[in-house]
Amino acid sequence: MSVSLTRRTLARLLGASAAAASMPRLAGAAGGTGALPAPASPSPAETPRSFPAGFLWGSATASYQVEGAVHADGRGHTIWDTFAHTPGKVANGDTGDMADDFYHRYPEDIALMKQMGLKSFRFSIAWTRVFPTGTGAPNPKGLDFYNHLVDALLAAGIAPYCTLFHWDLPQPLQDRGGWQSRETSQAFAEYAGYVSKRLSDRVQHFMTVNEMQTFVDLGYGTGIHAPGLKLGRKDLAQVAHYAVLAHGLGVQAIRANSPAGTQVGLADNAVACTPVFNAPEHVTASRTAFREENARFLTAIMEGRYTDLYLRKMGADAPAHTDADMRAIGSPLDFVGLNVYPASYVRADAHAPGGYAMVSEPSTAPRMASPWLYVGPEALYWVPRQVNELWHPKAIYITENGASSDDVVTRDGQILDTDRTMFLRNYLSQLQKATAEGVPVKGYFCWSLLDNYEWADGYGKRFGIVYVDFQTQKRTPKLSAHFYQATIARNSVA
Ligand code: FCB
Repeated sequence: MSVSLTRRTLARLLGASAAAASMPRLAGAAGGTGALPAPASPSPAETPRSFPAGFLWGSATASYQVEGAVHADGRGHTIWDTFAHTPGKVANGDTGDMADDFYHRYPEDIALMKQMGLKSFRFSIAWTRVFPTGTGAPNPKGLDFYNHLVDALLAAGIAPYCTLFHWDLPQPLQDRGGWQSRETSQAFAEYAGYVSKRLSDRVQHFMTVNEMQTFVDLGYGTGIHAPGLKLGRKDLAQVAHYAVLAHGLGVQAIRANSPAGTQVGLADNAVACTPVFNAPEHVTASRTAFREENARFLTAIMEGRYTDLYLRKMGADAPAHTDADMRAIGSPLDFVGLNVYPASYVRADAHAPGGYAMVSEPSTAPRMASPWLYVGPEALYWVPRQVNELWHPKAIYITENGASSDDVVTRDGQILDTDRTMFLRNYLSQLQKATAEGVPVKGYFCWSLLDNYEWADGYGKRFGIVYVDFQTQKRTPKLSAHFYQATIARNSVA
């Protein structure tokens, strides 16, 4: 070992123990050395970096990633059960069979949320708990789980934000064509209507579908996600169409089954077009890019039509669609939920169609533990701003944002994830700029509360602000949880 390496290692060790000495020990609710301590001197006063009063701070999870209990109380089989149990599909052969055991441990996790000061919690419903085969007879025990979860959240003063589809499609529907079939869009609407009828006395915010682009392109295009198909361009465009159609029919079904005032939206991971820098030509190019690069999903939903450029580019491979489809797809929304991770940089290019060019990342661009997660904090300013300029939605939520890190537990049991904390601080600073300029962002959901099952990466990529020991299920808040707690308490980036 070289001297310089030894020095560096020493410096890191000393740094870690100095940090440990100067801050209260990070303690978990479970296995517990006590409660999450109150943040040091929260300042209630407005500062120039404050978020609007009443800003809704939350965290997000999804059913298959946290619940476990895949055989409990009549839950039916999903495409992720099948995929995860197929050798070679998921890193390390990991499955969601146990995940965070949230199905049984949610009271403890809600206690943790409360200690952190969370005002809201975004979760998704496992379709096959409610309808084990996707359609047909409902399973009351499955819905009961969500009834209890919602009641427990409300009792803790935490607003439930409910996503209806976060990728765990019932396997029997996949066996009949999955998202290649219009039947799936219709089945989704029936399921959405059924659930909203039973929860909307207590749940005021519903999201239809999470990240269409991801489950369409990775599930049916590259085959990296369930159900692992690799369709051609035309078939893939049709899958995308049935996904937006499911969203639109879902919006209508929720409205028909819930009281007036129920807020309906979606959680979309729009391509996060971000100007290479703030100059008029790049800003204009980026806004055009935002509309065109999202033509299959968010643009179709906000405008009720596919853009001319998209239809021209697709030619004979454009999806078959009717006017009635497009009217449903364009059903007015109460809010737009945006999942924002890497920025996609755009520059003006007078010679390109649409006048813009996407810029790919240089090899040295900084990224987090997930190779796709390039660090681009300005996306959290530009994405909501552009959505607002293009479509003037009534409200915007950041329904996901967060980072994976190679977390290490120190000898005294702490997780000092300065990299995730840096990531969140920088992204939130950009979001604060958007709210200060009047972009109507009403809340932010950190992905994720807990380390969890990160799809094809299994348990290898940790996104939680709370560390989970998957052997013991012990929860330990990380440094980033303390940062988030302080940010919430001050309503300003800590
Ligand atoms: C998003 C997904 C979410 C999680 C994060 C890291 O694409 O919606 O389930 O995997 O990425």
